[in-house]
Amino acid sequence: MAQKDLIEKIRRLKNEKNAVILAHNYQRPEIFGVADFIGDSYGLSKKAIETNADFIVFCGVNFMAESAYILNPEKTVLIPTKLAKCPMAAMVDVSSLRELEAQYPDAAVVSYVNTTADIKAESDVCCTSSNAVKVVNSLEENEVIFVPDANLAKYVMKHSDKRIIPWKGWCYVHNKFTPAGLIQARKLHPNAKVLVHPECTLNVIDLADEVCSTTGMINSVKNSQAKKFIIATEVGLIERLRLEMPEKVFYQAPPGGTCLQMKKNNLRLVLDALEKEQFKVTVPENVRVRARKALDRMLDVDLRLEPAQTG
Ligand code: 13P
Ligand code: SF4
Repeated sequence: MAQKDLIEKIRRLKNEKNAVILAHNYQRPEIFGVADFIGDSYGLSKKAIETNADFIVFCGVNFMAESAYILNPEKTVLIPTKLAKCPMAAMVDVSSLRELEAQYPDAAVVSYVNTTADIKAESDVCCTSSNAVKVVNSLEENEVIFVPDANLAKYVMKHSDKRIIPWKGWCYVHNKFTPAGLIQARKLHPNAKVLVHPECTLNVIDLADEVCSTTGMINSVKNSQAKKFIIATEVGLIERLRLEMPEKVFYQAPPGGTCLQMKKNNLRLVLDALEKEQFKVTVPENVRVRARKALDRMLDVDLRLEPAQTG
């Protein structure tokens, strides 16, 4: 089926079924074209709460759709493919986390949203890349076990007096950026502003002009007088920036990176999801209720302190 026919069918079915399509900033540009909302992990969680739709079709990776269900058990949450699984979310399991908790009985457990529902259920509070520092600093405990991203944990460490015990997880996309790559990019484009995602290693983060979530990057570009930007995150974000701000110039920091799991979604699968109402994402109720507490606590920190920018 031609792309234009796919898009037309998706739009029609979306209206008929009262469905919304939520898409992460790393999705393919053609998915942006049918999405009702595009955002970072934080913004997508907020949108999942706000929507009145009966169906949420989640174009992102598994943990995002799980979060949407945790926050909305009365709605049907669909993912276009079961193959869109974040490898970092699979780097921590409950029994290993409990072993670490036993070693640090006074520590709070903070889980990055890039985790499975059962890890969220085990956590005191969740965080995203846009609010990790704020969430950790809001805690009463002085010790914090931070799962699963060691890079994000080290970034938080730099901005907190708490003792952080990092898990040894990583994102294979962000871990590839190097200081040498950024230095080279800066030499080639001396007037460009450098934006780095906090899933990068600390020696890359240290070379940034700004460290932000994917939506934080979009807002930063929108609000900046600069015309050129070097971007150290997944390539989909650069595609979104080029679509939204064609008057500005974006360079991907070498060696660049594509999240293969995010790209598993496509228009054909989105249409199948709407037509066949597949694949439903659910979480066992005893896990969901505990995971919800950790997500709610994060959202509450954001409401009490300065709200994160979404959209
Ligand atoms: P954000 O969009 O929240 O910055 O997260 C990036 C990411 O890697 C999601 O998996
Ligand atoms: Fe997971 Fe990294 Fe892909 Fe995000 S970019 S979904 S953290 S593998």
